[in-house]
Amino acid sequence: LDDEKRLRLMKATAIAHANIALIKYWGKRDERLNLPAVGSISVTLRELSTKTQVVFDEKLTRDELILNGTPAGEEERQRVSRFMDIIRSEAKISEKCKIDSRNNFPTGAGLASSASAFAALALASSHAAGLTLSPEELSILARRGSGSAARSVYGGFVEMKKGEAADGSDAFAVQLAPPEYWDLHILILITSTEQKLIGSTGGMIQTQETSPYYFRWISEQDRDLREMREAIRKRDFEHLGELAEFNALKMHATAIAARPGILYWNGTTVELIHEVRRLRLQGEAVYFTIDAGPQVKLICEAPSVDKLRQHFQNFPGIKQIIDTPLGPDAYLWEASK
Ligand code: DP6
Repeated sequence: LDDEKRLRLMKATAIAHANIALIKYWGKRDERLNLPAVGSISVTLRELSTKTQVVFDEKLTRDELILNGTPAGEEERQRVSRFMDIIRSEAKISEKCKIDSRNNFPTGAGLASSASAFAALALASSHAAGLTLSPEELSILARRGSGSAARSVYGGFVEMKKGEAADGSDAFAVQLAPPEYWDLHILILITSTEQKLIGSTGGMIQTQETSPYYFRWISEQDRDLREMREAIRKRDFEHLGELAEFNALKMHATAIAARPGILYWNGTTVELIHEVRRLRLQGEAVYFTIDAGPQVKLICEAPSVDKLRQHFQNFPGIKQIIDTPLGPDAYLWEASK
């Protein structure tokens, strides 16, 4: 009976949503603890989520990872296994685990999933391991897996604090406003479904080691963060969009100036930048942001969604469009059932 009870307690499932940064995280102040060199502000996305089940089992000899129904590659499995070592050491347990993780968005759509993945994993695994964490502790834990995952712990508008402490105890995310605060939409324009050559971790490190603009990028971030908080507080859409676009292009310019330069865009990405600006000249309230990949994310308010969707439907080079409003906090699905 004891065994049965223990096994029952060591299982949990959690759901977390992806997020997109309006003020970008790019650069690390500590690689081992994954501490960001800058704060960031994001919105959590309702239509993109990851559901993850974790089961600790003393019979397992190594951690197992299933991604969207198939065993993950060795590199991914090891990244997750290193993360599970943190959980085991905090919970003082030794059992290996089986992790089953599923995205609700199309696999291979060229969308980053480490934010929702590590937020869901942090919540499910801490619960399964019997840890009771505060939201800050949960965000700190998710950050160890992936910096942007620290933000996916919360819904709505979220700010990640860069923190000052060497141990990372003050590098966690906080919610600025819940999802219902403002009916913003993100339209994700997918321009490529190919695996990118350089991930965000590698891209950041190369940028901080070689880009002559890196110092300037870092030194301006607090001002951008302050301005974005203000734009959100006032629900000033033009200000939010203009600033998000500025910050994204600045991040890319800094990465492009690395040696060798890091260029995440394809031709369609560039065409879309021009098109968004053309639409604005015609009076359309739409802005863009771009992460470490070729997809363009449009930022708009709810009433513009249909028109924009139609406008970009047949744009050459766009493979798929996903529309999403803002989403909720990460949550447990069926705790220890
Ligand atoms: C461009 O969170 O993927 O999307 O902490 O190394 O896992 P690691 O990086 P990651 O970086 C995200 C970079 C970005 C901007 C952002 O989301 O803020």
